[in-house]
Amino acid sequence: MRKAKITVLVSGGGTNLQALINAQKKGIIKSGEICLVISNKEDAYALKRAEKAGIATRVITKKECGSQENFESELIKAIDGAGTDLIVLAGFMSILGEGFTAHYDKRIINVHPSLIPSFCGKGFYGLRVHEAALEKGVKVTGATVHFVNEIPDGGEIIMQKSVNVLPGDTAETLQKRVMRLAEWKILPLSAEKVCFDITNKEV
Ligand code: GAR
Repeated sequence: MRKAKITVLVSGGGTNLQALINAQKKGIIKSGEICLVISNKEDAYALKRAEKAGIATRVITKKECGSQENFESELIKAIDGAGTDLIVLAGFMSILGEGFTAHYDKRIINVHPSLIPSFCGKGFYGLRVHEAALEKGVKVTGATVHFVNEIPDGGEIIMQKSVNVLPGDTAETLQKRVMRLAEWKILPLSAEKVCFDITNKEV
């Protein structure tokens, strides 16, 4: 059976990308293969992680494209040019419009650092999500992997994993625990599940 081609979109440190690369090496991801990593930030450390793993990289910034529309069409060109079956948003900090999401129905997944529908949607990203969870005083938080549609963090949920909030947590300590215990586990497992479903539908 052929492997699904995965393109990963990143903006920052890329620890989730690293989790995907490691899972591919370990055979946890076996129905898909990361073929391309695209960053919207030139200095994203995630690019170094991709290069180290021998994966092709591209940088496409909104600034160089001039508008959201051109940015999305450049992304589409690169993604389709690589023959992509599945797009994984792994810490990609730019909202994608309906033109883009509709083009890839059920072919984009995203990892979000909370248990959706809590602490999600516009304005909730990165550390802000954990700050909001601590402000609210929740005792349990976690991560969610979901399909991406036109509603920010609104697509069908694929997997979730809960993580306890501990006394004395800061946004930083909570973020690290949520990544280690939830995100780095459910993102590779979800990528494998969706790649398996994509390639098996073809038979
Ligand atoms: C991760 O915690 C991810 O869930 C979050 O940004 C971080 C990226 O870290 N994404 C969002 O908040 C998206 N709404 P990484 O670059 O080390 O993977």
